Amino acid sequence: MRILVTGGAGFIGTHVADTLRGGGHDVAVLDVLHPAAHVPAAAVPEGALRADVRDAAAVTAGLQGVDVVVHQAAMVGMGIDVADMPEYVSCNDLGTAVLLAGMARAGVRRLVLASSMVVYGEGEYRCEVHGSVQPAPRRTEDLDAGRFEPPCPSCGTALTSGEVDEDAPVRPRSVYAATKAAQEHLAAAWAEACDGSVTALRYHNVYGPGMPRDTPYSGVAAIFRSALAAGRPPRVFEDGGQRRDFVHVSDVAAANLLAVDSSARAGFHAYNIASGVSITVGAMARALAAAMDGPEPVVTGEYRAGDVRHVVASAARARRDLGFVAGVDPVEGMRTFATAPLRG
Ligand code: UD1
Repeated sequence: MRILVTGGAGFIGTHVADTLRGGGHDVAVLDVLHPAAHVPAAAVPEGALRADVRDAAAVTAGLQGVDVVVHQAAMVGMGIDVADMPEYVSCNDLGTAVLLAGMARAGVRRLVLASSMVVYGEGEYRCEVHGSVQPAPRRTEDLDAGRFEPPCPSCGTALTSGEVDEDAPVRPRSVYAATKAAQEHLAAAWAEACDGSVTALRYHNVYGPGMPRDTPYSGVAAIFRSALAAGRPPRVFEDGGQRRDFVHVSDVAAANLLAVDSSARAGFHAYNIASGVSITVGAMARALAAAMDGPEPVVTGEYRAGDVRHVVASAARARRDLGFVAGVDPVEGMRTFATAPLRG
C-alpha cells in the first residue's frame, strides 16, 4: 500500500517509516522539521516533502495515490509554559483538521493516529470502599508536603493503582494532553462523517535510539540519558515511586505496521501501545544509571504542575485486535538505550 507518514522525519516517525518500508509498503514522508523537535541544521530525509500539515495545498500534494495516512506529526511533551499553548493547538489540532479535510477531499479513508496515554489523565485507581475512582488533580499543599499519592475523591483514603484500559474516560490534564484528546475527537468525527477508519495508537512512554536530547519537549528517558552523558545524576522528581510503562520505539513502529496491515474497521478504535511491564521512574533511572556506569540518581522531591502519578497500561486489547505484543522489556531496553545515539 502507499502510505503517507506525517512527522516521518521525527524520532518516532523515522522508525515508523522504516518499519513500514520493511513491511513492503511504499512510504511517503511529510515533515516540517518543527524547531521543538529538530535542530535548525536538521536535513530533510531523502525523498521527503518538507511541509506543514497545516498547509492544505501541501497535504493535497502529499495525499496523491495514498491508501492510508499514518499521522505522527505533533508537538509533544510538557513544553515550556502556557505560552506554548497556541502552537500546541495549532500544530496538533488545526494540523489534524487540515489533514482530515484533505483526506476527505482525496477520498483517503484510513487513518492510523499517533495518540498518547496522556488522554487518560491519571491512570486507573481503586478505593476499597468506592471501587474504581478517578482522583482529582493533586493539591499543591499535598505535593509540597511530599504526599504524592492521589487520595480517593470520596473518602480521602489511600488508593491502589491498576491497569488503565481503553474504555477509561478521556480526561486530559495538560495542554499537550488536551490537544491529543482533541485529535482523537476530530478523527472520530471524521470517521463518522466520511465512513472512515481510525486506529488510534495510545503510545505510553516511548524511548529508544534517535530520541531528542534534553529539551522541554523530551520525555524523561532522554532527560536522564543526557544528564548521565554529562556526568550528572538523573534528578528523579516526587519520591521516584510514580509508575509508567516505557515502550521501546521499535515496538511502537511494529504496532503501526500491524495497524496498517490489519483489515480496516469502520469507525474509531483506540489501543494502548505499551510494553505491558510497568516500572517506577526511580527504578528506570537506576537501570539507566547502572547501564551507563554513571552516578546514582538523586530523588529530589520536586514535582511538575500537571503531572500525573501512575499510568500503567492494559496491553490486552492491542494483543487481541492487532496481534501486538511488545518485544522489548523496559529494563533490558534501558540497557541498550544507554549507548544508543540521540538526535540533535
Ligand atoms: C509527559 C507528558 C506527555 C508526553 C510524555 C512523553 C504531560 C502531563 N506529560 O508524560 O505529554 O507524551 O511526557 O514526552 O503532558 N521526571 C523526573 N525527572 C525529570 C523529568 C521528569 O523524575 O527530569 C518524571 C516526571 O515527574 C514524571 C515522569 O518522570 O513523573 C515521566 O515524565 P515524562 O517523560 O515527562 O512523561 P509523562 O509525565 O508520563
